[in-house]
Amino acid sequence: MVTITSILTGLLALSSSTASSAIRRRSISPPEGCPIPTWTVSYFHWYNGSHSLDCIHNQDDINAKGCLCGSGWCEPDPATCNGSMVNVCWTGMPNYQPWGYGPPQTLDIQFADGLTCHDEYIGYRIHDIGHGESNCGYADRGLGRIVAFYGSSDLDSSIGHMDYTLGDGHALKCDNGSSITYSGSVDFALTCTHDADFNATCTAPVFDVPVLSYEWVS
Ligand SMILES: *[C@@H]1O[C@H](CO)[C@@H](O)[C@H](O)[C@H]1NC(C)=O
Ligand SMILES: *[C@@H]1O[C@H](CO)[C@@H](O)[C@H](O)[C@H]1NC(C)=O
Ligand SMILES: *[C@@H]1O[C@H](CO)[C@@H](O)[C@H](O)[C@H]1NC(C)=O
Ligand SMILES: *[C@@H]1O[C@H](CO)[C@@H](O)[C@H](O)[C@H]1NC(C)=O
Repeated sequence: MVTITSILTGLLALSSSTASSAIRRRSISPPEGCPIPTWTVSYFHWYNGSHSLDCIHNQDDINAKGCLCGSGWCEPDPATCNGSMVNVCWTGMPNYQPWGYGPPQTLDIQFADGLTCHDEYIGYRIHDIGHGESNCGYADRGLGRIVAFYGSSDLDSSIGHMDYTLGDGHALKCDNGSSITYSGSVDFALTCTHDADFNATCTAPVFDVPVLSYEWVS
């Protein structure tokens, strides 16, 4: 936990300092005879409610108990709970909007080439929205593609960061028959609006993730 937080703080500090100096927005030139992909984010939408359940960064939520009654949640009062009092962060709960909580957090990222990533908050943490890997489909992840997003929804405007790893399973063929794969990253302008309850909706204008490195795949 402490380690994760300090790594993230480091990453955020890094992305804000690189933002003020040179942001590298141009892709590398690929080795001769090799194709190079273009990664354009055509749609970016992140909803993070002020009372969305957060079982990894919010200690109050981690400690909280709710009243699980049938297939839903009732008022978390042990005296009136007609089901059972359980930790709201336990895995396998019927939904992730316990009594008193707002709608769950969601993240949608769409690329111009058709790749679609969708995260919807679930109690166990494969995809920690705003803190790394996003969910672009299990099959895709099996091929090694990783789209990671880092950012904060707390500010009206800030710098988001995205890392893109194409993965060996998506390697491209060069003219001479060698296989090549790529990765890239970018800092981008993130704009968040907050309603009267401080629910945040964050968006970004269309942006490219430049390709910054390649690797041969054997
Ligand atoms: C193909 O070309 C690249 C450089 O453009 C080289 O690194 C690689 O070894 C070549 N592969 C073969 C099979 O010759
Ligand atoms: C428990 O009580 C709530 C309201 O008091 C009611 O809506 C719910 O249907 C009850 N659930 C069960 C399993 O009896
Ligand atoms: C905003 O947050 C409040 C408090 O958690 C919640 O009741 C409401 O449904 C949220 N509104 C939207 C549009 O998500
Ligand atoms: C999500 O919203 C909560 C409540 O406003 C906030 O504390 C948290 O920092 C937000 N998460 C991120 C990654 O910005």
